[in-house]
Amino acid sequence: MANDAKYVVTGGAGFIGSTLVRRLIERGKVAVIDNLLTGHEANLKEVRGQIEFHRVDIRDAAALDPVIQGADTVFHLAAIPSVPRSIDDPVPSHEVNIDGTFNVLRAAANARVRRVVYAASSSAYGDTEVLPKTETMTPIPKSPYAVQKLLGEYYASVFHSCYGLETVALRFFNVYGPRQDPTSPYSGVLSLFMKHLIARTSPTIFGDGEQSRDFTYVEDVADLCWKASQADGVAGKMYNAGNGNEYTLNQIWRLLQQMEGVSLPPNMALPRAGDVRHSKADTAAAIRDLGHSPRITIEEGLRRTLEWYRLAM
Ligand code: UD1
Repeated sequence: MANDAKYVVTGGAGFIGSTLVRRLIERGKVAVIDNLLTGHEANLKEVRGQIEFHRVDIRDAAALDPVIQGADTVFHLAAIPSVPRSIDDPVPSHEVNIDGTFNVLRAAANARVRRVVYAASSSAYGDTEVLPKTETMTPIPKSPYAVQKLLGEYYASVFHSCYGLETVALRFFNVYGPRQDPTSPYSGVLSLFMKHLIARTSPTIFGDGEQSRDFTYVEDVADLCWKASQADGVAGKMYNAGNGNEYTLNQIWRLLQQMEGVSLPPNMALPRAGDVRHSKADTAAAIRDLGHSPRITIEEGLRRTLEWYRLAM
């Protein structure tokens, strides 16, 4: 039921943020902060009249204060994503993902916001010897992006211990679904697979395609963001936001071809620098403490996503 609480979503015009915004408008007032660098106002099209939209860059600390003032919860999703992008062009991602995160946390602490939910990344784990990846493992970041996202976690935890701001960090595991932008070489692999499948062209697979990911449907992630904002006894902590599954790129591309009844052998290319080999979340802590309950199977998620791209493209 809607109430008077104000929710701020940084990166709210992005793929994950815009899904979360749709959940939050049922619960209260929503203000979006986005610089539209990788997000698009079109992602908010049919909800645009129900939210406040602020075209603000999180590197601009002073501009954050008036928007964050009076917020109950800040969902901090704004970031420059992509492992290879952070390697090719590290300065903007460093500034947005580290300095920008600091600015958001500081504005939230100054405004006495009740809680900040921070979008951390599974990339922080790097190549662990053991799967699934558990929150207690020592992080071994392999790319600037992984370092940046890990630093944001540390800052979130320190803002809790030093300034009393409630924070919860969620390590997202390869999120996919409707509205993921497939137009950049840095786009998430499943959005690129969808684009190629619909165009009946071959995707590129970096390496042997046997690397695996815990692909997580965007609605399940949005759901967990909400739960993380409400759960008791979790302030200052970090949780995996994954599905607990593991699929190789070869498996996913085979599945997609079967769904469409086509045969499109991928172009194989050299492995990407900074790439993690295998990724699979231990979901036990998130289930126990946050009530995490991912509902969308990979088949169902791919079907829904493909349906969306078919209409959108
Ligand atoms: C990483 C993080 C994820 C984070 C995301 C943000 C890990 C395990 N995951 O995703 O938590 O949210 O960054 O950007 O570190 N690939 C191809 N062909 C393509 C594109 C990609 O084969 O055209 C491959 C990549 O080499 C990689 C896999 O697909 O092995 C996934 O790549 P991508 O979708 O970019 O995400 P990650 O880098 O895994």
